[in-house]
Amino acid sequence: MQAWRDLGPEGVRIAGVCDLDEGRARTMAEEFGARAFTDPAAMLAALRPDFVDIATTPPSHRALVELCAPQVRLVICQKPIADTPNDARAMVDACDRAGAAFVIHENFRWQRPFVRMQELLLAGAIGMPRFLRLNFRHGWDVYAGQPYLATVPRLAIMDIGVHLFDLVRLFLGEARAITCETQKRNPRVEGEDAFTALTAHDGAVGVTDASFHSTLRPEPFPQTLAVLEGDRGTLELREGYRLVIHDETGRREEDVEPPVPAWGEKPWHVVQDSVLAFQRHVVAVLRGQATPQPSGADNLRTLALCLAAYRSAEIGARVSP
Ligand SMILES: NC(=O)c1ccc[n+]([C@@H]2O[C@H](COP(=O)([O-])OP(=O)(O)OC[C@H]3O[C@@H](n4cnc5c(N)ncnc54)[C@H](O)[C@@H]3O)[C@@H](O)[C@H]2O)c1
Repeated sequence: MQAWRDLGPEGVRIAGVCDLDEGRARTMAEEFGARAFTDPAAMLAALRPDFVDIATTPPSHRALVELCAPQVRLVICQKPIADTPNDARAMVDACDRAGAAFVIHENFRWQRPFVRMQELLLAGAIGMPRFLRLNFRHGWDVYAGQPYLATVPRLAIMDIGVHLFDLVRLFLGEARAITCETQKRNPRVEGEDAFTALTAHDGAVGVTDASFHSTLRPEPFPQTLAVLEGDRGTLELREGYRLVIHDETGRREEDVEPPVPAWGEKPWHVVQDSVLAFQRHVVAVLRGQATPQPSGADNLRTLALCLAAYRSAEIGARVSP
């Protein structure tokens, strides 16, 4: 919400806030000078918005997207797009039928370090990408802010794996196969809270691992660390937002730490700045100046990779997404 407010000078206005919880809707609407609703259909009818930003949990995503698509020019839906491929496909189809753009709020690819790594890769700084390692390991109490995470049967892959697999696909292209091991480390938590996945791509390999139950000092949350090796060089994203570029000429280091928004704070600034970047991108899509990154259709493949990871872990074998 703060990031949308920051985009006021670029033509964005928060017209309404809808939440089934009336108190939450009213508090948020008051803070952001908008009208409060508890019924999404009533909000659409009253405000006729250009776009909606759906930030509810996955079980409600399909119904909300199907409701909104015929009435707006663009729909944003939070990750994970849906729990099942059927629901996700129905959402993509609903937007296609209505002629509405469909963007998934997938903010990791909009994090400053990864935007910079993409720029360097596209500029040919390391040649063809051959290997990517992403890791997101921490011991931060994510359950304090999102208590439902402790009770969902599918946790780390659906919550963080979606972000990481989106990055894997962005850097290495589509995965032909995945092998995955999951772990339950925290006894207070229902779902898997750690996983390690190996993905096979044309000419490249990815290793992705995440844990919500690691002891590391200083606590690295919410940073993702990465190594991207190409034919001619390597990009190494280290803790503290240090990007080391290794190539034929030697080694140099860039500081890729994002700024802290006026309403933000460390250590969240990497996420806060990425949300602002993502939302600025949505404005460009609305103006016809960009195509969705990622679109709902693209995100079907990320969901397929997540579900293949679970299948691989269940059957103990390599799986095609
Ligand atoms: N991209 C990120 O970095 C990031 C970070 C946190 C959460 N998320 C995602 O955001 C989504 C929401 O997560 P959260 O932790 O804020 O959940 P939450 O449960 O705290 O908040 C969801 C809100 O949606 C409301 N709601 C549910 N169904 C509704 C409906 N049909 N109509 C109107 N309101 C409805 C609920 O009353 C609640 O207030 C999840 O998909 C989560 O994965 C993404």
